[in-house]
Amino acid sequence: MKEKSYRNYYRQRVANQWRKIPAEHGDPSAIRPFLAGNWKMNLIPRAGVALAARIFDLCHDIKDVDMGFAPPFTGLSTLADYIEPDFLQREYGIGRNVFLLAQDTFFESKGAFTGEISADMLAAIGVDRVIVGHSDRRANLGKYFGFSSSVARRLSKDFLTHTLQRLKQRENANPQVLATIEHLIEEKNSDILAGLATFLESELNERAGESDDAIQRKVQAALANGVQVILCCGENREAHLARETFDLLERQLRIGLQGVARHTMSEVIIAYEPIWAIGEGAQPAPLEKIAEVHDFIRNLLMDLYGEQVAARVRILYGGNVKPDNIVAMMQLAGVDGALVGGASLNAVDFAKIIRFGLPNAV
Ligand code: 13P
Repeated sequence: MKEKSYRNYYRQRVANQWRKIPAEHGDPSAIRPFLAGNWKMNLIPRAGVALAARIFDLCHDIKDVDMGFAPPFTGLSTLADYIEPDFLQREYGIGRNVFLLAQDTFFESKGAFTGEISADMLAAIGVDRVIVGHSDRRANLGKYFGFSSSVARRLSKDFLTHTLQRLKQRENANPQVLATIEHLIEEKNSDILAGLATFLESELNERAGESDDAIQRKVQAALANGVQVILCCGENREAHLARETFDLLERQLRIGLQGVARHTMSEVIIAYEPIWAIGEGAQPAPLEKIAEVHDFIRNLLMDLYGEQVAARVRILYGGNVKPDNIVAMMQLAGVDGALVGGASLNAVDFAKIIRFGLPNAV
């Protein structure tokens, strides 16, 4: 891991400042916490509205925290109608701190892209912000779409066959190399071919998904259409253990943010979601790790955009955020909120997360 010396330029930001300074005396430019629920592929539209209604009941007194809900595409319109600001104000006394999030978008605006949804389509139904680059899409698509071992075997064999044909067309092809490749293709139990197939299968399953470049185009398409962004980044277990986290995050963020102008960064939220800490059975990242990575990201933002921008961009943590760990996480100076999966599907749990330590509403 590359050693980076942190410039703790934002020391003036007091940990948990929004709790320590009563709202009326608070610095209006202080960062507002953002607590977002990513429902992933859960809840039909009616069930989503019912969940949101329960959460509003439990959080109607919360004014200084932004909350976001990311239903699947099918639930967006129904939820958009329900969280219409005047209605929320009348019904719950909730101000304009509820935001509708989409889980993904496509970078083209229209055309023959079966199954995709463009950013202007999201804007047209009232989506405020879109999650881009979630690890479920960056890395897990290979698992969903099943690059099975038979596909990997066929690809490996096809690769060798094509290589052989190409080499044979060369005038000065090395006969030894040709013989070796022929041998590899024909040998029924070739260890090398089997090894290649196994390698390919695991690589495709682990890595096939959205590229950094696709994510960059999505960020730009969203912003160009007036849809704000939550840009996700995070390392898998392998990179975590190899201590490659910083290099990887730097690559993801530099590419993801390329072309985003300084004045547009107010529309971008960053979410750090270590893949090894996400989902049932995993443990959240340790607090020291979260603090260290958030410092790293803020320093990177400072390099890219300068101190003023870096101090204002909200950086969320995601990965097994629960009612019993949210308070400690929000006390870290660099953590401005959370992107919550499983616990956001339970009204009482998500309400506790939104309240992070405040007693229940009366
Ligand atoms: P969990 O909170 O279920 O670990 O999911 C985190 C996540 O991926 C949110 O986007």
